[in-house]
Amino acid sequence: MCGIFITGTDTEIGKTAITAGLASVLKQQDHNVGVMKPVAAGSRADAIILQTSAGVSDTLEEINPIFLNNPLSPNVAAQIESKTLDIDHIRTTYNQLKNRHNLMLVEGVGGLLVPILDHFSVADLIAQLNLPILIVARAALGTINHTLLTIEAAKSRNLEILGVIYNTLSPTPNNTAAQTSPDIITRISNVPSLGTIPYAPDVDIDKNHLGSLPQLIKKHIHLQPLLSK
Ligand SMILES: Nc1ncnc2c1ncn2[C@@H]1O[C@H](COP(=O)(O)OP(=O)(O)OP(=O)(O)O)[C@@H](O)[C@H]1O
Ligand SMILES: [Mg+2]
Repeated sequence: MCGIFITGTDTEIGKTAITAGLASVLKQQDHNVGVMKPVAAGSRADAIILQTSAGVSDTLEEINPIFLNNPLSPNVAAQIESKTLDIDHIRTTYNQLKNRHNLMLVEGVGGLLVPILDHFSVADLIAQLNLPILIVARAALGTINHTLLTIEAAKSRNLEILGVIYNTLSPTPNNTAAQTSPDIITRISNVPSLGTIPYAPDVDIDKNHLGSLPQLIKKHIHLQPLLSK
């Protein structure tokens, strides 16, 4: 295995912040990390910050082979834009990047069951790329349900789950929910928590600014389970 697919329990959950932060930390530790956002809808900001954080010379078209203008699920955006999405092109590009790097970090779009084509979901893409997953979940009330649903969907498709990273998206989180949920989710699902990232007021994905995310990842996240891949 030479890659990790980063998915989330939702859209806007911190997949890019964490993928870019991991790329930056691993690059600092002299790992040859590659990045990919196979499908983006609405903006290429995710692919740009991934490219910057990993410090790669791969082109934006390689990092993000499929771009749709409308910020919608890919199948809907493609229909509106009269485009036919080519999954083989994602696979070919992924294989090219994989040959240049030792560890590929691949960011999904939305969550596991988002349709790329009407009958081809993000989970189907993960299975085709044969990658283990890292789940990004909200460190907040509601995360037990969303995270267990994601884990159940992954397990039912035989996807390998490396762990869950909890991300604090609010400056005023419900601390009791945030602190107790990871252990409960691990107890119920047997999937490990790799840690919780605090709220970082200085991160701005759209402005290509990671702020303190790399330091917070180094301090709060257990990286070893990811490096064995
Ligand atoms: N730990 C954090 N502290 C503060 N803000 C954060 C944190 N993590 C992410 N954010 C902010 O939350 C928003 C969503 O994060 P991000 O873009 O990484 O989510 P995503 O899951 O990649 O979204 P998408 O589904 O659109 O790809 C961004 O504005 C980002 O700057
Ligand atoms: Mg993103």
